[in-house]
Amino acid sequence: MTVLICFILYAVFLSIGLARSGHRSRGLRADEAPPQSPTRVLIIGATGGTGRELVAQALERGLTVTALVRNPAKLQIDHPRLTVVQGDVLDAASLEAAMHGQEAVLCALGHKRYFHPTRILSEGTANIVRAMETHGVRRLVCETSLGIGDSAGRMGLYYSLFVLPLILPLYFWDKTRQERVIAGSRVDWVIVRPAALTNGPRRGRLRHGSRVGSLVWTVRVSRADVAAFMLDQLASNTYLRAAPGVA
Ligand SMILES: NC(=O)c1ccc[n+]([C@@H]2O[C@H](COP(=O)([O-])OP(=O)(O)OC[C@H]3O[C@@H](n4cnc5c(N)ncnc54)[C@H](OP(=O)(O)O)[C@@H]3O)[C@@H](O)[C@H]2O)c1
Repeated sequence: MTVLICFILYAVFLSIGLARSGHRSRGLRADEAPPQSPTRVLIIGATGGTGRELVAQALERGLTVTALVRNPAKLQIDHPRLTVVQGDVLDAASLEAAMHGQEAVLCALGHKRYFHPTRILSEGTANIVRAMETHGVRRLVCETSLGIGDSAGRMGLYYSLFVLPLILPLYFWDKTRQERVIAGSRVDWVIVRPAALTNGPRRGRLRHGSRVGSLVWTVRVSRADVAAFMLDQLASNTYLRAAPGVA
């Protein structure tokens, strides 16, 4: 019984920590005129679940895409408007080279080193932002997750009491640092916080905003729908410098 109470207290304090450390919105700035839709985009995390969807849908929308990947053989998408560049977000020089000539960046970075203290997300994103500032690339749309900042607890009880405290505390702590890096940057950013991801098809029916998710139930969204929403944010200021949830 004591162990259970201690564990629940730990989970509650973790949620409070994630709430305080992640980005907290200060209201929407939809008054700024929407930017022109970019034509050249750099996609980070292109070999991942969301990243592949971003590449495929960006090409469908007629964009010219550069994909920064660690292993080009893994991408397996061939298209005349797609350039694949080998690189690593922790290698600032490879990012600098890929950033040249871009108009916007879409980031779907993630990894599976859940049980190691890592700074891959935060340091990688700091390198992305630095390269964007150096090259005058304005817009960054970056995928993080529900469950941090002002969305803490909104992945539902299963995540708040089990998955985050037992499996993902270090990973999510780095996500809070990642969000702070983005929010402290000079680029025009949109943080997109999805619910639990699925590989389901694009439905086009999406709830988005600060009230998305549930304190009790696990809510879900397909990577395909998240990618479509992220691409929409390239030419919209509805969520400029905000962190909407999507589900
Ligand atoms: N799973 C969920 O239910 C869920 C829910 C909410 C949010 N999220 C978050 O959403 C994001 C995307 O998740 P996902 O499952 O679609 O993606 P994913 O399959 O985990 O893909 C992550 C991508 O990041 C790349 N990457 C990792 N380290 C890198 C590095 N050092 N340099 C360059 N690229 C690197 C990976 O490349 P490699 O292919 O070379 O490894 C891969 O392309 C993640 O941040 C995840 O935490 C997930």
